[in-house]
Amino acid sequence: MSDARILVTGAGGFIGHHLVTSLKRRGYWVRGVDLHPPDYTAVDADEFELRDLRRFDECLLATRGIDHVYALAADMGGMGFISANHATILHNNALINIHTLEAARMNGVSRYLFSSSACVYPDFLQNDANVTPLKEQDAYPANPQDAYGWEKLFAERVCLAYAEEHGLETRIVRFHNIYGPYGTYDGGREKVPAALCRKVAAVEPGGEIEIWGDGEQTRSFCYVDDCVEGIYRLMQSDYREPLNLGSEDMVTVNELAHLVITQSGKHGVTLKHVDGPQGVRGRNSDNRRLREVLEWEPVVTLDQGLEPTYQWIEKQVAQ
Ligand code: NAD
Ligand code: GDD
Repeated sequence: MSDARILVTGAGGFIGHHLVTSLKRRGYWVRGVDLHPPDYTAVDADEFELRDLRRFDECLLATRGIDHVYALAADMGGMGFISANHATILHNNALINIHTLEAARMNGVSRYLFSSSACVYPDFLQNDANVTPLKEQDAYPANPQDAYGWEKLFAERVCLAYAEEHGLETRIVRFHNIYGPYGTYDGGREKVPAALCRKVAAVEPGGEIEIWGDGEQTRSFCYVDDCVEGIYRLMQSDYREPLNLGSEDMVTVNELAHLVITQSGKHGVTLKHVDGPQGVRGRNSDNRRLREVLEWEPVVTLDQGLEPTYQWIEKQVAQ
């Protein structure tokens, strides 16, 4: 615990909500800012302000009197959203990031954590389901698949430049598909763990659920409690370069679906493979640098994390 005053942007969203809860437990004073009120549950912040961080004047107000910023605000979603909204994502997220960072500098913020993504890694390293886990240095030469990844890479560069030119202590974390309760589970922005929990929760035993593609594409999934712990540890560290934060346990989407079906206790649910946006064929995190830098790594298994996630989504679907 320290007496630093904290700003969490995107505090009404999935990771932001969990991060605020954890920072409050650690005894910090926290301001949360978001474009929208929280979707599912109140945010436990000392102040919660509705602001559009694409606007520089709003960023100046958001960062007033703040020591540390956790910059999580972004126009984001799973493959259904990021494959179909390239211009919107570039426009909104570039404005959010350059304005929040400059306002933080002007207001004398001392530490700034930027939430980047595994989507920065080049397409050509992720064409095989049996992918080699991605190391931080693999991001260059750059060729992210979507505009979302290009903007994240640009914003990483902005952070590195502010550290070099202005001495702002910036931290950069690359999340690998984070899941858990209070995450978007419907409406088109949901990622695959939440989407499959929703589909299984809604189907009768013996029914079928739709899976985009052949289901043999691979990912690793990181539970949100581990994500929040890793974010905090990185912010406390003196490490300025980008760092992966994800699980190293890769599964196919079909395997994920079967884990969710087991969680539900429903018998005889089958998979129907349909066309849909698939993103990269395979993705996994290489956590060697994470272990070196933080002397820690995620501990929650996919089975353990899916239990509270499925239970929460099942309850939402039943309402
Ligand atoms: P989320 O969509 O639940 O939260 C993002 C929040 O940002 C939302 O509440 C949204 O309203 C807010 N926001 C959007 N535009 C804004 C604006 N103009 N002004 C103020 N707030 C605005 O997403 P999340 O999963 O919590 O992701 C948090 C961060 O982590 C994002 O930067 C995201 O790109 C990054 N990330 C997440 C994942 C993941 O798997 N969840 C993976 C890689 C990177
Ligand atoms: N969303 C979703 N919904 N994906 C599905 C579904 C479904 O019903 N069925 C199968 N999939 C497949 C997708 O086709 C894709 O191949 C895989 O599941 C993973 O999809 P997502 O979870 O939507 O996205 P992602 O892993 O490709 O990318 C996500 O993680 C990145 C970080 O690792 C996105 O959330 C990015 O925004 C994020 O940066």
